[in-house]
Amino acid sequence: MVEKIIIDTDPGQDDAFAILLALASPEIELLGVTTVAGNVPLNLTQRNARQVLEFAGRTDLPVYAGCAKPMAGPLVTAEHVHGATGLDGAELPEPSMPLQDTHAVDFIIETLRRQPAGSVTLCPLGPLTNIGTALSKAPEIASRIRRIVLMGGGLFEGGNITPAAEFNIFVDPQAATVVFASGVRIVMMPLDVTHKVRTTRARVARIRALGGSFGAVAAGWLDYFERFDEAKYGLEGGPLHDPNVIAYLIRPDIYGGRECNVEIETESELTKGMTVVDWWGVSGRPHNALFIRDVDDEAFFDLLTERLARLAGASAITSPKTARG
Ligand code: RIB
Ligand code: CA
Repeated sequence: MVEKIIIDTDPGQDDAFAILLALASPEIELLGVTTVAGNVPLNLTQRNARQVLEFAGRTDLPVYAGCAKPMAGPLVTAEHVHGATGLDGAELPEPSMPLQDTHAVDFIIETLRRQPAGSVTLCPLGPLTNIGTALSKAPEIASRIRRIVLMGGGLFEGGNITPAAEFNIFVDPQAATVVFASGVRIVMMPLDVTHKVRTTRARVARIRALGGSFGAVAAGWLDYFERFDEAKYGLEGGPLHDPNVIAYLIRPDIYGGRECNVEIETESELTKGMTVVDWWGVSGRPHNALFIRDVDDEAFFDLLTERLARLAGASAITSPKTARG
């Protein structure tokens, strides 16, 4: 069965690979791309999403701009990881495809109302602001969402933006609270699993070997993206977070986890955005998410590389410049 999805994203090199994987996979029907402020401000994430779709030759797909700041508090961005553009590592032309006039939150609500109940999966790859706002504005959509498969949070791996919090949840813990309290089926791809999916030299070489502009741009993004985490963690390669959301839709068998209760810390300055995951079931609180902890990382990269190879010939970009930034 083809799964209808909406990708909500803050590109972000790793977001770009998640979008490309979805485009290359017949198991998935991408209804639209909604963008949110996160890695970089909204004016850049909406631009970057359009660049990625043009790069893949899919200007037929609609891109929507969503929330420019979290439901509460200031926006925190991550240019130190993704570069000033959010897609540093390869230079692509300014997108010519239009941005839709409809707000991303309204597109999410309207799509869920229009599509058969239980037929659409939401795939958030950034802060949960658009999803939390949609659920707050139209609570009845919760029963119409098939599932939410998101990248965010962490437990045994700690945090990546603070010692306690992962970036996507940290940026908007209020929105995350709405999502995890919604009753919607949630599959969570936390740092505990994404840190096991690293872009080694050999894996980047396989993607560069796809050839032409596609291989050069894709490898350029990975070369840039991994430099921060290599320096931080002292390991070869960096974790490729967001494509795990899409890979789970296609090959859930390569992942493993446990139904848990997950609550979000919103009050403490020290632990704001922490996902309090009851892995050992000591709280008695009801399960509200499947917490993914294990992955066959070789199978993941085989899937990603094989699917990207399907797009390699379709790239609309003829002469990119790959800058290491
Ligand atoms: O913490 C990793 C997450 O934050 C990824 O989604 C990355 O793109 C950034 O948004
Ligand atoms: Ca992201």
